[in-house]
Amino acid sequence: MAMEGYKTVKASQTTLTELMIPSYSNFGGKIHGGLILSLMDKVAYVCAAKHADGYCITASIDVVNFLEPVEVGELLSLMASVNYVGRTSIVIGIRVISENLKTQVIKHTNTSYFTMVAMGDDHKPREVPGLILKSQDDIRRFAQAMKRKKRKQLLQKKKRPCTPVLMMYPAGKSCWRNGVYLKYNLFS
Ligand SMILES: CC(C)(COP(=O)(O)OP(=O)(O)OC[C@H]1O[C@@H](n2cnc3c(N)ncnc32)[C@H](O)[C@@H]1OP(=O)(O)O)[C@@H](O)C(=O)NCCC(=O)NCCS
Repeated sequence: MAMEGYKTVKASQTTLTELMIPSYSNFGGKIHGGLILSLMDKVAYVCAAKHADGYCITASIDVVNFLEPVEVGELLSLMASVNYVGRTSIVIGIRVISENLKTQVIKHTNTSYFTMVAMGDDHKPREVPGLILKSQDDIRRFAQAMKRKKRKQLLQKKKRPCTPVLMMYPAGKSCWRNGVYLKYNLFS
């Protein structure tokens, strides 16, 4: 059942499949990591643009681990789906697998999460449709995305620059600054 202003995860699910040809390889004969990243960005864009019905930009990419090398001749499939939506942002989960067409062996090579932001004609972030969570997987991915977002926000708070006022304090003093507990003994 369609709901005004809401879309299902399924409505924008996207798979991009590409044959790994020799020109995609690096000096070691394996597929270039940068090419895989570029394909991940592409599939994230398509999935986000489908959900948002329009232009989106990449705001951030979570850690991408290259779990297995990809060989020339393999078929790379990148499966993308909306995991989470905020007001203007959409988190796309991407799973990448590589298939050896001779042996049919399939490897899981990468998983990552791309945050895309929908942009209006005024070049400002614009609101995106809400997300209808239908399956257990939809709910699990949504909850995990929320946890990652919270963790990121916490890390960003901790990383706020700390002004080097510590030289002004006498030995053994301590204080809270920008949410960080500082204790110094510089003059002792
Ligand atoms: C991404 C961008 C539009 C955010 O602009 P902004 O002025 O910070 O806008 P806002 O503060 O309104 O944030 C908009 C949304 O982006 C999210 N966002 C912004 N920066 C983010 C980041 N680094 N990681 C994850 N989400 C981010 C915000 O949480 C917000 O989400 P919400 O509306 O769902 O709550 C801006 O930083 C930008 O244009 N960056 C360049 C993007 C780019 O060139 N990408 C590569 C080519 S596509």
